[in-house]
Amino acid sequence: MSNFSFASAQAPLPASVLAEIREDLDGRDGFSLLELPFSTPEFEDIRAGAEAELRALLGLAGDYRVLFLQGGATAMFSLAPMNLLREGESADYIATGLWSRRAAEAASRVANVRIAATGDGRFLPPPDDWRVSRDALFLHLTSTETAEGLQYFAFPDLDRVPIVADMTADFLTRPLALAPFGLIYASAQKNLGVAGLTIVVLHESLLRRAPSGVPGPFSFARQAADRSKVNTPPVFALAVAGKMLRWLRLGGGLEAASARNARKAETLYAALDAGDFYQCPATSGDRSTVSVRFQLAEARLEPQFLREAEDAGLFHLKGHPAVGGLRASLYNGVTQEAVEALALFLADFARRRG
Ligand SMILES: Cc1ncc(COP(=O)(O)O)c(C=O)c1O
Repeated sequence: MSNFSFASAQAPLPASVLAEIREDLDGRDGFSLLELPFSTPEFEDIRAGAEAELRALLGLAGDYRVLFLQGGATAMFSLAPMNLLREGESADYIATGLWSRRAAEAASRVANVRIAATGDGRFLPPPDDWRVSRDALFLHLTSTETAEGLQYFAFPDLDRVPIVADMTADFLTRPLALAPFGLIYASAQKNLGVAGLTIVVLHESLLRRAPSGVPGPFSFARQAADRSKVNTPPVFALAVAGKMLRWLRLGGGLEAASARNARKAETLYAALDAGDFYQCPATSGDRSTVSVRFQLAEARLEPQFLREAEDAGLFHLKGHPAVGGLRASLYNGVTQEAVEALALFLADFARRRG
């Protein structure tokens, strides 16, 4: 029997990527990847290779810059406003769930923040309901609220106001039209490998207006000028991301990734919707394809559900503690085989306990 993980992070990696990592850990010429100095041409090949793969996948034009930073999306909650807003300037935030509220709260400690729209955790306010301020320097949103299982599937071009997006959960899970975005950030440990790396895609017009005084490792302008090498970069996590990016390209690019992810989500939602034993709190049009939140109609059966799931080889299905319930994360490295095993278990458990 195989074991499958539906963890929100760190998420599963494709078997071929894991095999390549193993080889690199053993190393060539007696040196492991874990011993590679970042000042070497070999590391620059890894960094430049990852950037080239990312640019090709997204079709990134030359006026977007790519940064490979540390600190995770949580650090970006503070670093984005610190790098994009000068004294007295303000930004709008869409507050739709746990992570976007955390982003807004962190930003409000370093900048003027206005809330342009809110949600109750069951739906996402559509762009027509956003009250974007005339003087907002950017509008921040969270493309997938992982705790609540909500996802935006389209992004408006706000013309004057660039969107800054936390795409930690769905970056490179689908094609993306970049025009509305001034800045996109994503922690790597869901769709692009392991923790330790934050990928930032930034329009250079935002770099030009960066305030001075942001310390070097945290300054987008300094990191862009130094090719993300102001200090020691996360060498291993970047090497893994490079392998994931190559795996995505060889697998047919973002269209193909999107089709695979949509199929996984359809399989899982079909199993959850098959009766009234399971419930999905998210409004159907806003249901995430990568973070599927669900509950048992009889919540008291949850511990038993989790125990029996593990007996069946299905791990990490507990919901985010802030919202409770259950959750299956279906990031890029999760296979259709894993989702089918979960769907079978859902049907079986409902039949036996329903
Ligand atoms: C949407 C979203 N944003 C941000 C984060 C925080 O990421 P990190 O722990 O890498 O800072 C998470 C973590 O799960 C997330 O799901």
